[in-house]
Amino acid sequence: MQTTTHILHRQIRGTLPVAIGGDGPYLIDSEGKRYLDASGGAAVSCLGHSHPRVIAAIKNQVERLAFAHSSFFTSEPAESLADFLVERAPPAIEHVYFVSGGSEAIEAALKITRQYFVEKGEPRRYKFISRRQSYHGNTLGALSVGGNMWRRKPFQPLLMASYHISPCYPYRDRKPEETLRQYGLRVADELEARIQTEGPETVIAFVAEPIVGASAGVLIAAPGYWPRIREICDKYGVLLILDEVMCGMGRTGTWFACEHENTRPDVVAIAKGLGAGYQPIGAMLCSNDIYDSISEGSGFFQHGHTYMGHSTACAAALAVQSVIEDENLLHNVRARGAELGEELRRRFAEHPYIGDIRGRGLFWGLELVADRESKQPLDPALNIHERIKQHAMSLGLLCYPGAGTIDGERGNHILLAPPFIITSEQVEEIGEKLAKAIDQAFLAVAAQL
Ligand SMILES: Cc1ncc(COP(=O)(O)O)c(C=O)c1O
Repeated sequence: MQTTTHILHRQIRGTLPVAIGGDGPYLIDSEGKRYLDASGGAAVSCLGHSHPRVIAAIKNQVERLAFAHSSFFTSEPAESLADFLVERAPPAIEHVYFVSGGSEAIEAALKITRQYFVEKGEPRRYKFISRRQSYHGNTLGALSVGGNMWRRKPFQPLLMASYHISPCYPYRDRKPEETLRQYGLRVADELEARIQTEGPETVIAFVAEPIVGASAGVLIAAPGYWPRIREICDKYGVLLILDEVMCGMGRTGTWFACEHENTRPDVVAIAKGLGAGYQPIGAMLCSNDIYDSISEGSGFFQHGHTYMGHSTACAAALAVQSVIEDENLLHNVRARGAELGEELRRRFAEHPYIGDIRGRGLFWGLELVADRESKQPLDPALNIHERIKQHAMSLGLLCYPGAGTIDGERGNHILLAPPFIITSEQVEEIGEKLAKAIDQAFLAVAAQL
């Protein structure tokens, strides 16, 4: 346990264990304690913490060339990684812009789509429509389109104007008389209404996570939602930016999460699972149409970061993605994901404080409630998410609980995103330890429930 520090940690008060090693899906601290990493941090470490092929690729790249600035050179790992991604990307997405993380990928998406319309002679387009209860990153542009009210609040005066519509959140918002599909179409139609209110000639793009991650604990859209969104975008010449920073790169059992939804994006942002935490890397992928307009227009994307296309980061990400392919890990994501879903339902379907269990692949959320019947959330003052995290850590389990699930203030959830190498026994270990952690956390606040 580190007691004194010069680091400005996320949580300024309190102390953190010191991570010193990794062993597959386990992290090890300086006291030798092992933690099963059932959330990959925040859905990052999709190959666990010690994959020999990734480590070898990094060493090999550093020995040859760690970094060459992208305004002077391209590099073999960056070119190969771009080829790899484009081969697996949604249709007509053939260009990759490498950055260092998710927020940067979103910033690049916002800027390239704005520049696209400027180059096309439509400079009046400047608005991005997005959804409440979404998270797109913490830099000011990404925070502006994000719909996580708690994260936005202190910075509100610094943010660009935002145009939010409802999330697709069937558990809370579907009316009893609606089918799932009717509900999905109703909320998708909010996009059309909003485009009309704002004036279609002013809207650049709709920005959304195909599956909402940390803000609302894995929200999967209702059937029909995404195809209708695409239809509306096409009708008004509005672009579709999909934020797959958390849900992409195999997390849901396919390379891109939008493959499940049969929906073609114009731009996709990826990060987290791209480098699996072995190196910091993200990417913005864009369509031929966007690329061609800029390449035939000004000839350059007016953007850039020092570390974009970093050779070592690209070599690591290429190794991560090659391992996923060579070891057929997408199959494991689907198979172990189904087991994890069963494990969670078996343990929690009747749990008095768990209202909803939802997920796809190895991406699962549990929504916590004070009362299952009324779906009333727990008192935010209980800080139940933080308590569950602490109890889980004591038991040697890492999960990713959050608050503000419903509207940025009310609601709690637990997010699980274990590595793609997880075994059936480890899936059971997650269920067992999580059940204990949840019970211990509720026992500690029993008097206040
Ligand atoms: C959906 C989504 N977009 C963007 C981001 C921002 O990524 P980063 O923290 O790498 O900047 C995150 C991070 O959690 C995310 O979940």
